[in-house]
Amino acid sequence: MFICGFCAFLALIRFMDKVRIGIVGTGYIGNVHGRIYSRDERAEVSALFDVVPERAERTARSIGGKVCSSREELLANCDAVLICSPNKTHKDIALNAIVEGKHVFCEKPFSIGIDNARELLDAANAASGVFQVGHNRRYAPVYVKLKELLQNDKAHSAHIKMNRGELKNPVWTGDVNVTGGFLYETTIHLFDMMRFQFGEIEELTAYGSYHEYPELDEFSIIFKFKSGFHCTFASSSDASWHFPFERIEVFCHHRTIMSEEMERLLDSRGMDANFETLSWHMTEKEERWGYVQEDKAFINAIVNGTDPPVTALDGFKSVELVESVYNAIRTGERVKIRAGG
Ligand SMILES: NC(=O)c1ccc[n+]([C@@H]2O[C@H](COP(=O)([O-])OP(=O)(O)OC[C@H]3O[C@@H](n4cnc5c(N)ncnc54)[C@H](O)[C@@H]3O)[C@@H](O)[C@H]2O)c1
Repeated sequence: MFICGFCAFLALIRFMDKVRIGIVGTGYIGNVHGRIYSRDERAEVSALFDVVPERAERTARSIGGKVCSSREELLANCDAVLICSPNKTHKDIALNAIVEGKHVFCEKPFSIGIDNARELLDAANAASGVFQVGHNRRYAPVYVKLKELLQNDKAHSAHIKMNRGELKNPVWTGDVNVTGGFLYETTIHLFDMMRFQFGEIEELTAYGSYHEYPELDEFSIIFKFKSGFHCTFASSSDASWHFPFERIEVFCHHRTIMSEEMERLLDSRGMDANFETLSWHMTEKEERWGYVQEDKAFINAIVNGTDPPVTALDGFKSVELVESVYNAIRTGERVKIRAGG
């Protein structure tokens, strides 16, 4: 009898300890995170808000959560907010959540424009809660492994590609007033990845043109890093979804290490053409792309009171890189990256 009562008490404590998650924007990525948290015993999807209420209702039917009719109602019903609405909404929603004392997980991009990014960084730094940015690729096993291999070898240079098949789905991805530009919507993922793998960037030169959409949609960039490392970077928004649409080729001493999306890593060492392949194609997509790990990291940071692996400063620096590339193209000049932060 006593044991049952005690177990019930423990169960109650566990329940009370659950981090209540509120999701703003229940489209594609909101549902990805929602499904993951619905399986996490330390979290509970407690509140959903979408400007199209039917979308929140559909999500509630599959994973639960209170469908809220406003952001205010959502904030009153959660401890942590996941910002999963389109890019231009991120800053204001994040500032609002910080003011209300919530932990914040903000999907990429951190915000649009350097002034907005600075304002959000200052607010996040002053906040009591956790602020994590959704650069999921840092947790993807392929990129974790690449980083591990590069700890034991010196990378000299690299060639990086980050393409997209179209800017039509969802429709807003083709609207520069919502995305901030193609670099904010897509390329920013591997801009953050470059810092993760190779360290801080010192300067860059860039060329851009437009063909398919009424914005710059094709980019060629050269980055020089503080360490002396350098790389070329190509990014196209209308390249078809030809595999692999993202790839990092790193060149070391008689060695090439090449990633193919988040599926495979090829490691070729020595003077001949042999290579070793590491593959994650049997891993579930939510884990292969790092979403499960990043969502776990967010709860870890909240529960342990620690910094998350991808901070507001990382988010700020990714925006700084995007803006520097657009500046380099506008001015035709080499752009130095400021210290940042
Ligand atoms: N990290 C990743 O791999 C990844 C993948 C996809 C999308 N994203 C990012 O996540 C965000 C959402 O992308 P998506 O593909 O899920 O888009 P989506 O169009 O599928 O979903 C966005 C949802 O937000 C809702 N919405 C729009 N404005 C809103 C507002 N002010 N308040 C509340 N809800 C609002 C829309 O009705 C829609 O349901 C974007 O910023 C995108 O860049 C990140």
